[in-house]
Amino acid sequence: MTTASTDALDAITPSNSVTAGPGGSVNGEAVVPGDKSMSHRSVMFASLAEGRTSIKGFLAGEDSLNTLAAFQAMGVSIERTSQTGLIIDGVGMHGLKAPSESLYMGNAGTGMRLIAGVLAGQKFSTQLTGDESLSKRPMRRIIDPLREMGAVIDSQQSGCPPLVIDPANALAAISYQLPMASAQVKSCVLLAGLYARGRTSVTEPASTRDHTERMLRTFGYPVETDGAEVSLQGQGKLSSTELEIPADISSAAFLLVAASIAPDSDVLLKNVGVNPTRTGVIDILKLMGADIELQNRRDAGAEPVADIRVRTANLKGIAIPESLVPLAIDELPVIFIAAACAEGTTTVTGAEELRVKESDRIAAMAEGLASLGVDAVATADGMIINGGTIGGGTVETFYDHRIAMSFCVASLCATDPITIRDTHHVETSFPGFFEQCADLGMVIKRQSLDG
Ligand code: S3P
Repeated sequence: MTTASTDALDAITPSNSVTAGPGGSVNGEAVVPGDKSMSHRSVMFASLAEGRTSIKGFLAGEDSLNTLAAFQAMGVSIERTSQTGLIIDGVGMHGLKAPSESLYMGNAGTGMRLIAGVLAGQKFSTQLTGDESLSKRPMRRIIDPLREMGAVIDSQQSGCPPLVIDPANALAAISYQLPMASAQVKSCVLLAGLYARGRTSVTEPASTRDHTERMLRTFGYPVETDGAEVSLQGQGKLSSTELEIPADISSAAFLLVAASIAPDSDVLLKNVGVNPTRTGVIDILKLMGADIELQNRRDAGAEPVADIRVRTANLKGIAIPESLVPLAIDELPVIFIAAACAEGTTTVTGAEELRVKESDRIAAMAEGLASLGVDAVATADGMIINGGTIGGGTVETFYDHRIAMSFCVASLCATDPITIRDTHHVETSFPGFFEQCADLGMVIKRQSLDG
């Protein structure tokens, strides 16, 4: 078996294509980068707080760095004390200043949708732009409730970015029934609710990640959760705090699947966030027969964390319970890879939200799996995958980080190398992904398709 050394990866530059596999095992300990959802929120809430907040474990990925730059552009002093450490001098709920240019949110739906909630309550106008992928993502889901609150917000006619947000006379609290299970929409409404007169409440059709609720409480802002309803009273204040952001379970998921499908593998992932609204991937992989153990469970502030040990297992196909889908929404692409390596059929339903992520992830995964010879059929809201042999070939990433990383993991079970075209967007959530894979024993090589 060949194992690429990290030195051999020095030449990997962000826009390169990567060739992975075939085969290999993964072994050792790894600490994956900080949680992306919490990193975005930490910068937003610390900026709006009164006083100085210190943050450890911040994800220095493109998405969260764009959020950081947006708040700097609105006058917040943010010092990067290390690669993952920040000190933020909050300006209070009403201390943000008009930025001199549009705020560029890059690839980040979370960045754009959450910041729009904050900007709806400001006394200045802003424009929010994004990259090619974000510019195609639906924003009516936040525009509708924000307008109901009295916000002055507009998009392109298509309902996509850029967004223009102008000052509103005053925001009014609403009781909002979320039409889809979306933590981004829930959070956007709650953040606008911070500026509204009265009590804003959001009811979810299914449980979604609750980092906004937990982190607002950490900043001393009361948030009430009553079954599916979350509510807060507007016009309070946030007080500075100290935050420690755990490793991102969505990034850990690639290695959970890698160690499960590769022979002779045993990996320990340290300090991973295991908030129950995020652990659907563990539940699904366990239902498929994975050998996953949570060790050293503890709390990092308001968020539960654990070390996760995962070893090779014989996976079997399952019908993924729809109740787990929102709790594993970002991990489904790599779960599709687990399904392609499993014995039998896996069906995913109720996952139509995958069609409006950084790419249409149902179409992108179906196309990639088909080009590797996997029997996978896309449906309107999911996929039917018959496990079996994964061949080699070239796959497109559609500029989507999770598609790129998923097919890298697939190479562990492939008969021939898999070339993943344009892996640049991996930088948005998991800087150093390919280097970490190589360090754990995967076969990773740079291959420029341009030459
Ligand atoms: C996120 C919520 C999810 C998820 C995204 C991060 C968040 O999106 O897919 O990666 O941080 O709130 P939706 O709320 O649109 O499902």
